[in-house]
Amino acid sequence: METNPVVECILSRRSVRKYKKNPLPADTLAAVLRCGIYAPTAWHREPWAIRVLQDSAALDRFNGSLLQWMREIRHPALGHFQEPNASVLYHAPVLVVIAGDMGRSPMAPADCFLAAENILLAAWSFSIGSCIIASAVEFLKSAGGGAWRSALQIPAGHEPVVAAVLGYAADGWEGAMALRDDSRIGHVHGAAGELP
Ligand SMILES: Cc1cc2nc3c(=O)[nH]c(=O)nc-3n(C[C@H](O)[C@H](O)[C@H](O)COP(=O)(O)O)c2cc1C
Repeated sequence: METNPVVECILSRRSVRKYKKNPLPADTLAAVLRCGIYAPTAWHREPWAIRVLQDSAALDRFNGSLLQWMREIRHPALGHFQEPNASVLYHAPVLVVIAGDMGRSPMAPADCFLAAENILLAAWSFSIGSCIIASAVEFLKSAGGGAWRSALQIPAGHEPVVAAVLGYAADGWEGAMALRDDSRIGHVHGAAGELP
């Protein structure tokens, strides 16, 4: 198979669930976030608000609120976070939340996820790991997440769509390589007589 640095970046990215505390260099983070807003966006509406939290005390408080909410609703993933120092954010130094303006574009969720994927891949191109955190979005969308929606300055009318953490991977972060099923790809040849 042919390859190049972009293909290598895409194929080698893995979700990272163990982070060093080191903050990300400001100019590197700026480049990564900029890649987010250069994702394709339906009708070029850019219906997103991207919020970045790096303060470690604030991240701890967010994790505490998230865990508390997960306990209250008996979240199915709670079993993974039972240790006293557990972090749903895996102790990562950066949390990115992307909220979509549903009134501005019916494709806002797709646009937000495309921005997120650009951010994850750009981060990996700088050897910065990432992981999407679904429960953070569920929490922010819930009634109990209202105070954090305000604290994160998510504008009115915007719905949280993606949350992801970023940071340098700590030693021993690698799990089993998540191989993909090539058989999901099918080439359609459109032989004469087989098309509608
Ligand atoms: C929509 C979405 C939600 C996810 N939520 C979580 C999550 O809450 N916690 C987590 O550790 N990983 C989460 N992941 C990461 C997936 O588990 C991961 O992408 C998948 O196992 C494939 O592994 P890879 O990313 O290493 O290739 C999520 C991924 C997606 C696309």
